[in-house]
Amino acid sequence: MVDPRYIIYNNDAISGIRVAAQTAAIARDRIVGNVYSGMTTGELDDIAADIISELGGYPTFWKYHGYPGKICVSVNDEVVHGIGRSSKVIKAGDVVSIDVGVTIGGYIGDNAITIIVDSAICDEDVRLVDSTEKALMAGIKAARAGNFVKDISIAVENVAIDAKLSVVREYVGHGCGIELHEPPEIPNYKTRKKGVMLVPGMVLCIEPMFNLGSHKVFTDSDDWTVRTRDGKKSAHFEHMVLITETDPEILTWRKT
Ligand code: MF3
Ligand code: CO
Repeated sequence: MVDPRYIIYNNDAISGIRVAAQTAAIARDRIVGNVYSGMTTGELDDIAADIISELGGYPTFWKYHGYPGKICVSVNDEVVHGIGRSSKVIKAGDVVSIDVGVTIGGYIGDNAITIIVDSAICDEDVRLVDSTEKALMAGIKAARAGNFVKDISIAVENVAIDAKLSVVREYVGHGCGIELHEPPEIPNYKTRKKGVMLVPGMVLCIEPMFNLGSHKVFTDSDDWTVRTRDGKKSAHFEHMVLITETDPEILTWRKT
C-alpha cells in the first residue's frame, strides 16, 4: 500500500540512494576544498559542475523548477538557494553555505554545509555556524523508528533556543530518494502537528536554517535567493538520513 505521507524504500533502492548520497557528500567536500577568498560564487558553481560530472553525477538542482545554478551558494544574509554569479566575490570572513544535490543511477543525494572563509570576523558567526550544525546532529539523533517528525523538529529548535538564534520557518527538511523533495516535510521548529511516525526505510533530509537576527526572510528579485529581512547572517546544514531499526544512518557522512 502506498501512503502519500511518506515513502519506505526497499533494500535495492536504499543501495542506490547510499551511492547517490555518498557521491553528494564527496562532491560537497571537494567543492568546499575549492573555496577561497577572492573567487566569485559563479566560479565556484562552475567548479562544482565539473566535480559532479567527474564523479559521474548530474547536478540535481540545475533546472529544477527552472533553477539556473548547478549548486546553491548562499553568502552571509543569503539563507538558501543563492545562485552562483560572476559578479559576487567571496571575501575572508564570509559565512558561505554550500548546498549540493547529485543525481546518479536514478537516485538523489542532497546535503549542505556552512563554512566561514579563512577566519571568522566575529564570535557570533562562529556561534551561528556551530549551533546550526549542532542542531542538525540533535535532529539526527531524534530520527529513530517509533519517534515522530515532531521529535526531530523539537530537537533542532531546542538548540536554536539555547543559542539565542532564530529558526527559518518558510523552508523545511524533506524526504528524498527518487525525487529531490518527497514527503514528509520536516520543520525545524515545533508545530501543532505530530507528523508521521518514523519507520525503517524512510530517507529524510534534515536541514536546519538558523539566523543571527530575526527569523524573517524574503525572496530576492532574482526569484530564488532567500535572504534575511534584517540583513543579518544565516547558516544552513543538511544531511540525508536513513531510518533504521537501530541508530539512524547518516547517508551523507563521509566514510574515511
Ligand atoms: N537542498 C535544497 C533543498 O533541499 C536545494 C534545493 S535548491 C533548488 O531544498 F534549486 F533545487 F530548488
Ligand atoms: Co534539501
